[in-house]
Amino acid sequence: MTIQGSGVPDRYAVIGHPVAHSRSPLVHRCFAEQTNQILSYTRIDATPEAFAETARLFFRERGRGLNVTLPHKGAAFALASTVAERAQRAGAVNTLTLNDDGSISGDNTDGVGLVRDLRDNLHVPLRDSRILLLGAGGAARGVLEPLLVEEPATLVIANRTPEKSHELARAFRKLGRVKGCTYRVLPDKRFDIIVNATSASVAGQLPPVPDELAAGAVCYDMYYADHDTPFARWARDHGARSVHLGFGMLVEQAAESFYIWRGLRPETRAVIALLRHA
Ligand code: ATR
Repeated sequence: MTIQGSGVPDRYAVIGHPVAHSRSPLVHRCFAEQTNQILSYTRIDATPEAFAETARLFFRERGRGLNVTLPHKGAAFALASTVAERAQRAGAVNTLTLNDDGSISGDNTDGVGLVRDLRDNLHVPLRDSRILLLGAGGAARGVLEPLLVEEPATLVIANRTPEKSHELARAFRKLGRVKGCTYRVLPDKRFDIIVNATSASVAGQLPPVPDELAAGAVCYDMYYADHDTPFARWARDHGARSVHLGFGMLVEQAAESFYIWRGLRPETRAVIALLRHA
């Protein structure tokens, strides 16, 4: 357990490649200040080849926890000695924690982060909604279960490569009404919520989603940047009801990691506002 006031800060970090752009240190420092926790939080850049050794060394030196970002979420899953059920379903780990016995547990807080931002911060009703999820990679898989738990009327996964969206839909169909398709053959014409879980924004690209779908929809890009992404621009240009970048998801997933590590729930609203306007 943490000894408060011992003067030695507990060490945390975000590990990724690249990682210089990550706002996680700022978010966790805000949380620590808010809750009077003594901790340090840094960035660690590790190539895929160096990930496992770097993470193990961090924990051998009594680092307490790591947030794991691209491209290491699968490798973090393999590294953890125990993996929470939600992370098992996501097939990825974004939070590693050193236990008192020296073992390392893995969890995934991304999905809960997205749902909390949509439902609690943005007040977007998820129950009985029609959701279109763009992309069928790791990021999409990570948010499927928490979205389906909210009982949407339908959840459609659109992907360029149809095998992947069909396979993902099959893997999650026990949890709700979920279908896989391509962008060209969508089973519905109207959606209440469109979530961009592709990595297209990272490359400054737009998934080939039909223009008419944006009208009246809440459009959410899981990616965050200090400028509009092509998806956000597309949504604005085509009459979206509202457009959001992934700042809220970032802060909410961080808050859940902070809770795992420190047992405290930080206040997120002010931190989201700070990031948005930074
Ligand atoms: P991540 O872990 O970020 O999800 P990933 O597992 O490599 O990364 O998956 C990337 C996802 O973004 C995939 O669904 C990919 O589509 P394909 O499976 O068809 O490759 C999608 N993607 C990436 N760039 C895209 C683009 N320009 N347009 C549409 N989809 C794109």
